Amino acid sequence: MATENNRDKRIMLKHLAIIMDGNGRWAKSRGLERIEGHQRGVDSVTSVVEECLKQGIRYLSLYAFSSENWGRPQDEVNALMELLLHFVRMQREKMQQNGIRLKVIGDVSKLSCSVREALEETIAATSAGECLTLTLALSYGGRDEIVRALKKMATELCHGGLSLEDLNPELLCRYLDTADLPDPDLLIRTGGEKRISNFLLWQSAYTELYFTDVQWPDFNGVELCKALHDFQQRNRRFGLIDEQLTPDQKEKCH
Ligand code: FPP
Repeated sequence: MATENNRDKRIMLKHLAIIMDGNGRWAKSRGLERIEGHQRGVDSVTSVVEECLKQGIRYLSLYAFSSENWGRPQDEVNALMELLLHFVRMQREKMQQNGIRLKVIGDVSKLSCSVREALEETIAATSAGECLTLTLALSYGGRDEIVRALKKMATELCHGGLSLEDLNPELLCRYLDTADLPDPDLLIRTGGEKRISNFLLWQSAYTELYFTDVQWPDFNGVELCKALHDFQQRNRRFGLIDEQLTPDQKEKCH
């Protein structure tokens, strides 16, 4: 683990986002049902959350259920919802104890009442958490999020709350589900595929990407440390040259 001294020299990593892929293949390769891969995936979530707390990472965003995942076989959708329900209920107290604030992004109106209620209760119970903001992307799609944001802006434009001259990227950010989150510094995708799959499309414009063949149920704190080490070797310039970086950007870079 990093000491306070060498932590200071590390590139700031405030926000880590993860596409947790490979549960189904992990299960299939062991002759198990897909859902058993998802069940083991919950242990990986716990392990990664613990490592984030240890490493002082302030924001962790997990792609837990995409807007496209509704199209999976109904049994698998139901099982995933059950796992989620169990997770947010059972982890509530532990989150409170560890200073974890739960947040959800996505079109939650599509979730069942029981899942929504459990989420709302845990979000309320953990709202004072100051160590780590754990964001679950549920019924989430980046394009859908942008369209929902545009609809809110268009409504305000029509009612005179906004004028065309107000429109700029910073304003749009304020209408996204992630309005209170910094952009992700690092996006990890497990399971061997090398794509973004509609996750945090707007927010990941300058995010560093890390792809690993490790399937999500085999991902843990040790694998996360490998990704963090890789991130530390990156040179982030945000489209500029080194000499142009502002102190704020330099702080993110070094
Ligand atoms: C992708 O693997 C994973 C998902 C669609 C669901 C992720 C869910 C969990 C890890 C468990 C529940 C989460 C929480 C936060 C409690 P895949 O099924 O697409 O795998 P494959 O590509 O091998 O088929």
